[in-house]
Amino acid sequence: MQLSVIGCGYLGAVHAASMASLGHTVVGIDVDQAKIAKLSAGETPFYEPGLDEILRTGLASGRLTFSTDYADLADAEVHFIGVGTPQRRDGQGADMTYVDAATAGILEHAKPGSLIAGKSTVPVGTAARLTQLAAREGVRLAWNPEFLREGFAVKDTVDPDRLVYGVTDATHDEDVATLDQVYASILERGTPRLVTNQPTAELVKVAANSFLATKISFINAMAEISEVTGADVTQLADAIGHDERIGRKFLNAGIGFGGGCLPKDIRAFAARAEELGKGESVAFLKQVDEINLRRRQHVVDRVVDSFDGPVYGHRVTVLGLAFKPDSDDIRDSPALDVAVQLKGLGAEVVSYDPEAMDTARNAHPQLNYAASLDEALEGSEAVVIATEWKQFKRLDPADTATKVARPVVFDARNILDPTAWRNAGWTYTGMGR
Ligand code: UGA
Repeated sequence: MQLSVIGCGYLGAVHAASMASLGHTVVGIDVDQAKIAKLSAGETPFYEPGLDEILRTGLASGRLTFSTDYADLADAEVHFIGVGTPQRRDGQGADMTYVDAATAGILEHAKPGSLIAGKSTVPVGTAARLTQLAAREGVRLAWNPEFLREGFAVKDTVDPDRLVYGVTDATHDEDVATLDQVYASILERGTPRLVTNQPTAELVKVAANSFLATKISFINAMAEISEVTGADVTQLADAIGHDERIGRKFLNAGIGFGGGCLPKDIRAFAARAEELGKGESVAFLKQVDEINLRRRQHVVDRVVDSFDGPVYGHRVTVLGLAFKPDSDDIRDSPALDVAVQLKGLGAEVVSYDPEAMDTARNAHPQLNYAASLDEALEGSEAVVIATEWKQFKRLDPADTATKVARPVVFDARNILDPTAWRNAGWTYTGMGR
């Protein structure tokens, strides 16, 4: 099929390259000239395992192209909207500027009878509003949320847990048939496909992210209680996780969730619920957010407490800057936040991340970035493990102790073995253990 994908960020670039890898002819469109130039040259604008390969193969096949000109989508049968919906500068709700601009751009050039498939995470009710605009041009619109995780984005796109189509009664059969054709090879494998109305599809996405955020904050709340009672939250998570109804996944206590999705999605959902007069239904999301943010402060406080007097002038190593491993994304990263806060308190912060140094440096040039893990550890008076990269998990406590000035470690992701580190002479502090 001929497809267009509007927005070439995490969601859009991965979707465009993945659809080409399934055999479709795809044009990716973005207003950012530099991003389009990079993608057209076969360079990924961010770190995402597996994306390079399908990008290059797609470009070489001639079936994948990128453009800044909306006119290039004129032949497409389906137009995917994959632009961002960041938090509004002036509030908690979602900024719909990019979705609205993408829709307008598509409608200027789309052929009648084509289908817009929205993938961006949007406030419930958006699809109904856009469907009316599209109908005036004879274009159909469905909501087809995306559940990809950074670090697994390609796999999640070409081999998803489920597909969700949010369609209207008026165009139900055509929309389902068109999307089934797009995803034919995925459906052949027996991937579950749920056809819902539009509000359900929009809500599925925010409900999923709210549930995940709640799960993480739940275990972090248990970490807070564990800290004052002498319990170990990692054992607690293992024990409750054996109950299949609870499950062990997303029960890792630490410095909480960050990234371009969970934090802004729970805020946007709470803001939308307020607009709908149902703020109380998701009032708990505010607490989920607060618990989450408290964990960052907790780490900063523990580091400060470890010194006799202020942290000012002390050399603190922050290992990890990305919001999670296998990503160079620093959007709302708890790790970067901790580094910035400690720096703000006058600590001599040295940071290191295997992938996120450039993105972090662009956003926070005031931090000191070490060229290597060893350099970051050199002379350190406190080491904070802030992102659970494999490289940090594998650190040898005895060897690491020889590099630092003071063997004090804050395992903010609970990835180290406390006994091994204590036996090697370290003062070890985990999260909720
Ligand atoms: C999240 C969802 O997991 C995806 O399903 C969704 O499609 C995506 O948002 C989106 O809306 O686009 P992502 O932001 O890539 O994906 O990251 P997650 O893997 O969900 O991790 C989010 C944060 O939670 C990270 O900072 C991670 O370190 C933290 N986390 C995760 C914990 O603190 N504890 C856990 O047990 C799990």
